[in-house]
Amino acid sequence: MANKEEVFVGSIDQGTTSSRFLIFDKQGEPVATHQEEFTQIYPNPGWHEHDPEEIVRSVENCIAGALKIFEKDGHSKDSIKAIGITNQRETTVVWDTTTGKALHNAIVWTDTRTAAIARELKAQEGSDGVMDICGEPISSYPSATKLLWLLKNVDEVRKVYEAGNLAFGTIDTWLTYKLNGGPDKNVFVSDPTNASRTMFMDIRKLEYSDKMLKFLSYEFDLKKVHMPKIVRSADKEAYGKISSGPLQGFPIMGCLGDQSAALVGQKGFEAGSAKNTYGTGCFLLYNTGDKPIISTHGLLTTVAYDFGKPVYALEGSIAVAGSGVKFLMNNLGFSEASHKITELAESVPDNGGLVFVTAFSGLFAPYWIDDAHGTMFGITHHTERGHIARATLEAVCFQTKAILDAMGKDSGHDLKELAVDGGMSNSDLCMQTQADLVGIPIIRPKMRETTALGAAIAAGFASGVWETFDELKSVNTQGQTTYEAKIDRPAAKKMFGRWERAVNMSKGWLA
Ligand code: G3P
Repeated sequence: MANKEEVFVGSIDQGTTSSRFLIFDKQGEPVATHQEEFTQIYPNPGWHEHDPEEIVRSVENCIAGALKIFEKDGHSKDSIKAIGITNQRETTVVWDTTTGKALHNAIVWTDTRTAAIARELKAQEGSDGVMDICGEPISSYPSATKLLWLLKNVDEVRKVYEAGNLAFGTIDTWLTYKLNGGPDKNVFVSDPTNASRTMFMDIRKLEYSDKMLKFLSYEFDLKKVHMPKIVRSADKEAYGKISSGPLQGFPIMGCLGDQSAALVGQKGFEAGSAKNTYGTGCFLLYNTGDKPIISTHGLLTTVAYDFGKPVYALEGSIAVAGSGVKFLMNNLGFSEASHKITELAESVPDNGGLVFVTAFSGLFAPYWIDDAHGTMFGITHHTERGHIARATLEAVCFQTKAILDAMGKDSGHDLKELAVDGGMSNSDLCMQTQADLVGIPIIRPKMRETTALGAAIAAGFASGVWETFDELKSVNTQGQTTYEAKIDRPAAKKMFGRWERAVNMSKGWLA
């Protein structure tokens, strides 16, 4: 029987391939959850889109689904104190402020159609100062080039822009806007963890940068585009209230980009702590405290969270992780279940000399090669599907190793351990390989819904469910697994050397 005193926090987790709604208790345990996949649209090679309206519908369905379970278990929805949102970052939506209707499919963070725009921007005067202002290198990854592409190529978008009614938003903004009821309420906000992925925000001031807006203007006046107000990641008022459905009237009080949310969910609150999330892509965030460190080794500077004052992180972004596994399943017909890919990888004793650079969206950190393409290196008559499966898992571990090396150089400190989560972290083989390659303990918590937990924590802070970081100390500490390196450093170095050679070979495909 449910305890009347108990309080809960809801968490919308809007990811690249699915949406979810989870309800957490005060101990950080999920008590109800519902997940829905939505359509992945690949109109051309390198293009990746989502239907923004389908995303909203999927979130609404998830809320309804999880709530059904919650109430069936004897809980009352009145015990849900607030809702947090966490989301895929960078993915860009544009809509008409007068109708609230999206004007085009969302361009997803993985999409590389803007590589040419990125190249032109790189050649522009002032490009060398960009990193220092916004923390991101010029590439097809942040939202900026996606907005430029839409302005340049979609008549309807340009017409609405010329009329002064064009709204730009990342998924957090789109969701809060729509869940609040669209143009009627006009809740139009973003949090700094999301805004720091657009290239439009000054990473120190947490405001839109005039310099960046001018640098990125192309032939447009970006000041004419409505951009969301940047507000703190935990806020009682700014995110408004859900306007319809079973949680009508319930307040949204927290918002974090998914990778920041995972850092919060892993309780990476201290400078020097780090987490690696193996989701659709894989993202390593290293908390650098209250000062942004601008990378000189291919990492991004991002806002980790802002619960009153901003905390920063260095980020190593890998475009392909779980999506590599999906590629083996959907494109090559390897299997119908992702755990079977691990089993296939375990069917061979090692990679048999095969290295797979899964550069399907160019190659992100620390390399930033927009024109890299997927490359398999070392195929022989001996190569079988097990080797390809193994090399696909290993690709993420190699790139993580390259990122950790870069982080050591940028921060001046070597990491002592790495917290992990996300779908691929379920693979013991993959986590053991990771430990082997980086030579530090890899720590996997038992409850791996850390991204959703992070958004719940943000909303929980704003609503008073939790008040201090200390209160969260005991959350999710039981039953973690630690992986220690089992191979010696020279062997790890040799493996990594082959990866670096393969990375070199993946370059220059558009040349
Ligand atoms: O930057 C993209 C990232 O936010 C997407 O995360 O979990 O879908 O790989 P994920």
